Amino acid sequence: MRNHTIFVLIFFLFWRNTDALSNHTFPSFFKFGVATAAYQVEGAWNEDGKGENIWDRLVHNTSIVINHDTGDVACDSYHKYKEDVQLLTQLGVNFYRFSISWSRILPTGYPDQINKAGVEYYKNLINELKANNIEPFVTIYHWDLPQPLQEIGGWLNETLVDIFAEYAKTLFTLFGDDVKYWMTFNEPRQICYEGYGLGWKAPAMKLLGIGPYRCAHVLIKSHAKAYHIYQDNFKEKQGGKVGIVVDTDWYEPATNNPLDREAAERTLQFRWGWYAHPLVHGNYPKIMIQRVAMRSKLEGFEGSRLPAFTPEEVNYIKGSYDFLGLNQYASSLVKFKPESEIGIPSYENDMGTLTFRDPSWERGASDWLYVVPWGIGKVLKWIKKNYNSPEIIITENGYSDYDGALQDDKRINYIQGYLSSILEAIYEDGVKVTGYTAWSLMDNFEWYSGYREKFGLFQVDFQSKNRTRTAKKSANFYRNVIHSRKLNNVGKS
Ligand code: BGC
Repeated sequence: MRNHTIFVLIFFLFWRNTDALSNHTFPSFFKFGVATAAYQVEGAWNEDGKGENIWDRLVHNTSIVINHDTGDVACDSYHKYKEDVQLLTQLGVNFYRFSISWSRILPTGYPDQINKAGVEYYKNLINELKANNIEPFVTIYHWDLPQPLQEIGGWLNETLVDIFAEYAKTLFTLFGDDVKYWMTFNEPRQICYEGYGLGWKAPAMKLLGIGPYRCAHVLIKSHAKAYHIYQDNFKEKQGGKVGIVVDTDWYEPATNNPLDREAAERTLQFRWGWYAHPLVHGNYPKIMIQRVAMRSKLEGFEGSRLPAFTPEEVNYIKGSYDFLGLNQYASSLVKFKPESEIGIPSYENDMGTLTFRDPSWERGASDWLYVVPWGIGKVLKWIKKNYNSPEIIITENGYSDYDGALQDDKRINYIQGYLSSILEAIYEDGVKVTGYTAWSLMDNFEWYSGYREKFGLFQVDFQSKNRTRTAKKSANFYRNVIHSRKLNNVGKS
């Protein structure tokens, strides 16, 4: 573990190997993995003592999800985890990034009752992974809050800071001897902006310019508390790392006009900086603090809608990460936008920029997924420059289609293009990227798009009771990349 870290450091200090780049070879410390999330694959929504969570509630009580699809059975990974591990060994991945379902471990959300069957499920999965030489990378929270915690306001309620910390501590205690990579939250922006702002994701609240900021404030403090608990009580003995997973597009100025350049930078700050800035620099990005305060005042609020950290909190949050997880799929162009009129408070107007896509860019099935391989390289360089050159793990990257076809050449081109841009960022720009995670191991429940959009390297037959998994051509491609640790000459045919 320690040796690995030292090696990565030495590599980035002294080694710029252009031969390796021209050879398209990944550095020896670089790890490859695939990811899933509990609600998207496990199913067994009410089995063996699992409690109800906000996604169970949303899919059963609303029509937000296409075709009324649910994750009740999903890929049935709760029963088929051994088969999943077989797929992972076929790929030859170094790690598997999966999430733990909070309500499977703590059915009420609180640690007063620990569900033995839930603990056993994850112990079995972890043991199976280790027996096959695959490292478990665990996401503590991938969007599935226990419903009883939503009843007290969910992520708008500050008491969740302590409750989340208790949950994280429970996981460190139960699984920390075997898990060395922890990610507190997956994509806090989607949790807060889509869950408490736009209402597209559970708990589907539409609180535009208020909810997302309050939610984010609670999440950031929850993250920091979990990080410190690990540092103070587990780090020495267990020797693992704790990080967070933040997502962002690359935002490219639409023109060279300084106004467009400023707008692109501001958009990055409102998206990535909202979460990463407090962790790295102690507080929200200056531009965010200024703009939300300015608009709040004009709207007639007493103070800013963006909550403020106390100086103690700033100190506590600053530096609370061992690595940063980056989910990167797409890019956008950005233009300056004149200040919008004062009206209903909104995150969009606080940001105040115009984002759009180049119509010539190829698109996946998801309406936001534009294929822009160079974008990931630009994000990586920008993070290195502005965030103290952290260790970065690409925790998600992937391509969606509708047909889930086995001959998925477009997915292969996508992964190949993005990996090539990542290699360039490592060798040419010295960005400390230590791993890549393909989203996803298999087709699964794609949130409000149900089973319509498919991201898997393995196809899943959702009509069959058995949820039969079949390798796509991209699984073969990825296996060859991992095996050869090279990008060129790998089975595109
Ligand atoms: C999420 C995944 C999701 C994927 C594709 C990410 O936003 O972490 O849960 O399935 O992107 O949309």
